[in-house]
Amino acid sequence: MKFSRRNLIKSFAALGSVGFSTRVLAQDKPNPNNLPPNLPEWTPDLGAGVDENPYGSPSEFESNVIRRNVPWLTASPQSSVNFTPLQDLEGIVTPNGLCFERHHGGVAEINPTDYRLMINGLVDREMIFSLDDLKRFPQVNKFYFLECAANGGMEWKGAQLNGCQYTFGMVHNVQYTGVKLSDLLRETGLKPKAKWVLAEGSDTSGMTRSIPIEKILDDCLIAWAMNGEALRPEQGYPARLVVPGWEGNMWVKWIRRLEFGDKPYMTREETSKYTDLLTDGKARMFTWVMEAKSVVTSPSPEKPILHKGIQQLRGLAWSGKGKIKRVDVSLDGGKNWRTAQLHAPIMSKSLVRFTLPFEWSGEELLIQSRAIDETGYVQPYIQELQKIRGKNSIYHNNSIATWLVSKSGKVDNVRLG
Ligand code: MTE
Ligand code: CO
Repeated sequence: MKFSRRNLIKSFAALGSVGFSTRVLAQDKPNPNNLPPNLPEWTPDLGAGVDENPYGSPSEFESNVIRRNVPWLTASPQSSVNFTPLQDLEGIVTPNGLCFERHHGGVAEINPTDYRLMINGLVDREMIFSLDDLKRFPQVNKFYFLECAANGGMEWKGAQLNGCQYTFGMVHNVQYTGVKLSDLLRETGLKPKAKWVLAEGSDTSGMTRSIPIEKILDDCLIAWAMNGEALRPEQGYPARLVVPGWEGNMWVKWIRRLEFGDKPYMTREETSKYTDLLTDGKARMFTWVMEAKSVVTSPSPEKPILHKGIQQLRGLAWSGKGKIKRVDVSLDGGKNWRTAQLHAPIMSKSLVRFTLPFEWSGEELLIQSRAIDETGYVQPYIQELQKIRGKNSIYHNNSIATWLVSKSGKVDNVRLG
């Protein structure tokens, strides 16, 4: 398939309100001297040696594939967010350097030798674990998505950000290595009255969340590795809490303490923040699970259609309640639906890749995707969510997005109805 950089840049320029610059990395047209039957220019010379890049990095032609932030969402870089470039990724694994970051007080710098996890409160034995202590427990290796509750939060009132990265990119999916909290807690024991846990981070933000004990004992982990290597500093090095399927805010990074108590702690992050306003003005207190959601990553505002003929639509789906059972795709704004192909592995609380081939002859399209999970839950339209939550919500927007494909192949984020 021929790749036209000119079209790509045109589409980026359309993201005016977001205003990021792109380096031109490839010329508009291939250099004929490099095309068959000629010997390309990179063949006669010796390439770089093995010592030149001891920790590998992507090709310089991929330097457009980066995390990006939205300037008007960034009050200060230490209390901000950037977004995963979902439109440029394949399969289901998010490379470590592309996992979106959300910090409330910057990235803590922790020497692992000084790292400790303290467990106190309603336990039989209060204990302190070093990182080496944690690594002596049986380990698990599990793929989970992490989605910020505010993912898509800017889209409650209407289509606002013209990019797949900006509207869906507060999600990543990596393989965690860690210890199950249920195993760790066998060491400390639990008092019968222990019903809630206060998880506390050691960064300057004082991040604390209450988590019910059933969830802690079900599938929560203390993880020290992601995708085979130590956690990145941005992701909580040397250890973070993993709360599969639940909102990202609860996945406390740089975790230093777990306190067991008999009631929720009602911290700032679960009272003034991370609550859902309802139409009657009251707020829903706890909304932990990230419900089923999906996104078409290509075509998308960053990935216009470049040629008529056969297209491979690609996307990602996930559910905090378990496995994705089916993904439907519509090309006409929800009138007709086709079933997309789901690609193995299909794991619980992990991103799933879907594809759908279709033929394009230059007509306008309204592309939508709808995820259905194993509980039977169907991803809703925004109008259904607004009935209960109004338009002033921020969190838990898992509604169906619409990409308008124009006759030129340009793609825009639009709102129908
Ligand atoms: N933990 C601490 N200690 N400090 C933080 O600022 N941010 C939370 C959560 N855990 C945060 C934290 C939020 S809101 C989210 S969405 C996730 O971490 C983001 O995780 P990531 O940066 O690995 O993507
Ligand atoms: Co968040």
